[in-house]
Amino acid sequence: MDIFRTIPDVRAASRTIRSDGKRLGFVPTMGALHDGHLSLVRAARTQCEAVAASIFVNPLQFGPNEDLEKYPRNFDRDCELLRNDSVDFIFAPSVEEMYPEGAVTHVTVEGLSDRLCGQSRPGHFRGVTTVVAKLFHIVEPDIAFFGQKDAAQLAIIRRMVRDLNFAVEIVACPIVREPDGLAMSSRNAYLSSKDRKAALALYRSLMEVQKLFQQGERNADVLMIAGRKAFMEGESARLDYLKIVHPDSLDSLTDVKETALAAVAGFVGTTRLIDNVLLRGEEVAVHSKATV
Ligand code: PAJ
Repeated sequence: MDIFRTIPDVRAASRTIRSDGKRLGFVPTMGALHDGHLSLVRAARTQCEAVAASIFVNPLQFGPNEDLEKYPRNFDRDCELLRNDSVDFIFAPSVEEMYPEGAVTHVTVEGLSDRLCGQSRPGHFRGVTTVVAKLFHIVEPDIAFFGQKDAAQLAIIRRMVRDLNFAVEIVACPIVREPDGLAMSSRNAYLSSKDRKAALALYRSLMEVQKLFQQGERNADVLMIAGRKAFMEGESARLDYLKIVHPDSLDSLTDVKETALAAVAGFVGTTRLIDNVLLRGEEVAVHSKATV
């Protein structure tokens, strides 16, 4: 497995792989890898003949009072995990390599970037789309793999790829969870054992929404109110938002007719966590028909 620090090295490797007729799969990450990240690598392995991953804690997507400095970093361990999963090469650039002095160009997906986490974290999604656009230009993958865990990020990247005609296919992979339901996240490393219990508020609230949905409730307000109430039961977690939106446009919904995204964000101490669940109209209709 090669570890590249510079853009020309990555371009050369990517072009060699692709000129050999291999499809290149790409998994962008900020490191501190867990099974959620590795599920993307494994998905890439099954669909592509070569796999690349990037490790870059992107300063552009962190707000001034966020956790850029203390974001968990464990480069050697990350390399070991990626090597075990047969990644062909890693791109791990410095901040200067990605943002040389005078870099002032950004990519913004208007509208969508102000929804969900974009509302609580102004500029966050602009930072994400800018770095992902750059990574796509540098790595030139055929297929890029993203987690459903960051559902708004996924919708925004899909829109960017469509609007700007990137020659890359986006594949979404399911959320990987701990046995008790907590979605895996690099930020879970911040949680004390007390916070770890409190963090279940997110999953609990989504399960409540899903349960009511499966029982036939389609009014988004009723679903959101029930979810927020279930979130509050834990006391020590603080709700940022719980919303039901269209999974592509991220527009708020009043009635859940087709597939909808129930997304939640909350703070446990100073740690901000997110989670979501897709409410699938047809699947539930089939399910309820079968049980009637
Ligand atoms: P990061 O948080 O490291 O996540 C990298 C990828 O792993 C994202 O596509 C994310 O959705 C996915 N992921 C994280 N936790 C997951 C889980 N529990 N199950 C499945 N997939 C999971 O997302 C970013 O980095 C950055 O914003 C990035 C896209 C790299 C741009 O800087």
